[in-house]
Amino acid sequence: MSGSDQFHLLGVIGWPVMHSRSPLMHNYWMEQQGLTGTYIPLAIKPGTLEDALRGMHPLRFSGCNVTIPHKMEAMEIVDEVNDVARKIGAISCIVINEDGSLFGTNNDWLGFLGNLKHQQPDWRADAGPATVIGGGGGSRAVCYALQHEGAPEIRLVNRTHEKALAIAEEFGAPIKVIDWEERHDALEGAATVVNTTSQGMVGETALDIKLDNLSADALVADIIYTPLETPFLAAARERGNATVNGLGMLIHQGPPAWKRWFGLEPKVTDELRDIMEKSILNG
Ligand code: ATR
Repeated sequence: MSGSDQFHLLGVIGWPVMHSRSPLMHNYWMEQQGLTGTYIPLAIKPGTLEDALRGMHPLRFSGCNVTIPHKMEAMEIVDEVNDVARKIGAISCIVINEDGSLFGTNNDWLGFLGNLKHQQPDWRADAGPATVIGGGGGSRAVCYALQHEGAPEIRLVNRTHEKALAIAEEFGAPIKVIDWEERHDALEGAATVVNTTSQGMVGETALDIKLDNLSADALVADIIYTPLETPFLAAARERGNATVNGLGMLIHQGPPAWKRWFGLEPKVTDELRDIMEKSILNG
């Protein structure tokens, strides 16, 4: 369908999903870009993903984002997956083509990099080793981003060792798997440290890691955005380290999605960040 009478329908598929700030962000951009439409949370239970995705074309959706716990399963359902998503092993964004076929890609890695480059312009992945904590879908996107940017070594630490080993096998050098028990020492000499576990999120216990060996000049990032500052980030900031929270990663994966859906690049503005921060602070 084309023409100015089109109502653009998009959404984020997750379970749970009502905490997501994606609708707030995409609806802000709808207004910024002068499009008529809406972006809604789609609470899709595990086990019903395929029916939900196949129903989007008859409902005239243009596309959607995919979040926990559907990112890996969605990859098996869509009709086409690009190389980046295949390498990462998860999709975060789907385009619904005119003929009803589904195209999947992953923009999380672009969000992670875009945010770091925006918040810390002097940061360079090749400045030294990186330590990534966690081995889920978020970790895979972060590892891909760091590898893409030339991190000389990526120390991967995950509670479930096998998941980290699988990432190392798929990604190859420079991933080095380190035992969960050794996580405190894995910070030594790291130029970039990233938490990709769910530890520290609202309702979860804090990430259990000692920062004694953290270099003063290491950049410390968390992909969590609720709360805006996890206990892990707060501890790093109190030691004097530069820190970056996960909100910008969410914001910066948005424009590449818009490019896929509409061929448009919405602007990441301070106003948008303020609106999102306020929404998170107000619960
Ligand atoms: P996402 O797609 O957002 O990365 P995920 O795939 O569910 O979400 O990954 C969650 C990550 O948090 C995993 O690395 C998980 O560790 P396991 O692979 O061992 O499950 C990590 N995680 C969750 N709870 C944890 C805990 N209590 N202690 C340490 N790590 C934990």
